[in-house]
Amino acid sequence: MAHINIEEKGDRVILEVNRPEALNALSEAVLQELRDVFSDLSSRSDLSAVIVTGAGPKAFVAGADIQAMSGYDAEKISDYVSLGQALMCDIERFPLPVIAAVNGYALGGGMELALACDLIYCSSEAVFGQPEVCLGILPGFGGTQRLVWRCGIGAAKRLIYTGEKIGADEALRIGLVEGVFESDNLLDEVEKIVDRISKNAPLAVSSSKKVIQESIADTLSRGLTVEVDEFCKLFASEDRAEGMNAFVEKRKPEYKGK
Ligand code: CAA
Repeated sequence: MAHINIEEKGDRVILEVNRPEALNALSEAVLQELRDVFSDLSSRSDLSAVIVTGAGPKAFVAGADIQAMSGYDAEKISDYVSLGQALMCDIERFPLPVIAAVNGYALGGGMELALACDLIYCSSEAVFGQPEVCLGILPGFGGTQRLVWRCGIGAAKRLIYTGEKIGADEALRIGLVEGVFESDNLLDEVEKIVDRISKNAPLAVSSSKKVIQESIADTLSRGLTVEVDEFCKLFASEDRAEGMNAFVEKRKPEYKGK
């Protein structure tokens, strides 16, 4: 794997998204590699959980790859967003608990990656946000749906409409994360959660995940279809081109509602 570090530690696997030069942004290759890893691990009966984290001191994952997306045409963006959605659904369908250890920025698609995990723990330096509207798009990897389920419709609308970034304490307050730890202890503390899970009957844990996911399956599936449609419509707008060009050119965008 070019962009995913895989560390096996007994009954758990730690996956580290490793593209620190782009704050671990989810390029097409990263998304596909993550899908491949989860597919490979899905038949492993010796595992208790998978932990997902980001390489480097700054970021868990800073989102979808804006640089790459800014050059995509209509067909390519539809394929890309569908690929991202498919990865998040793979994680939800994965037979074991998947735990996000958020060690820095978790923005846009990065926050959506965390939201697809069963549990989210973060360091005290973590920063969360869905800043897509600042770029002329909307969360396209399931964030419009999973954020509502996790934090309620008010918090979801606030974060998605404003694009505001929040720190670890606020993330804990709104129920986005299960717990906050000091950066140096984050992975050790998450492993202690895995220790607790792994004491229980593996089939019972796996069935619990399946049944809990089923409670939202139909609504989620409908929402994801609408999300990808709306994403692609927005992607064709002038404001989207302005938003992404402004990011690449490191300047503020000027939106016209077109
Ligand atoms: N995609 C591609 N490259 C990214 C990136 C992203 N999402 N986020 C950061 N980078 C790159 C930067 O372009 C920069 O590259 P260069 O050194 O080549 O210029 C490098 O990573 C370091 O980033 P910054 O210099 O910007 O670092 P900073 O500390 O000043 O700022 C940050 C950090 C606030 C996270 C800022 O990088 C940022 O705002 N990133 C974008 C966050 C974002 O908007 N995410 C949503 C993406 S859209 C999405 O995810 C859609 C979806 O749902 C499908």
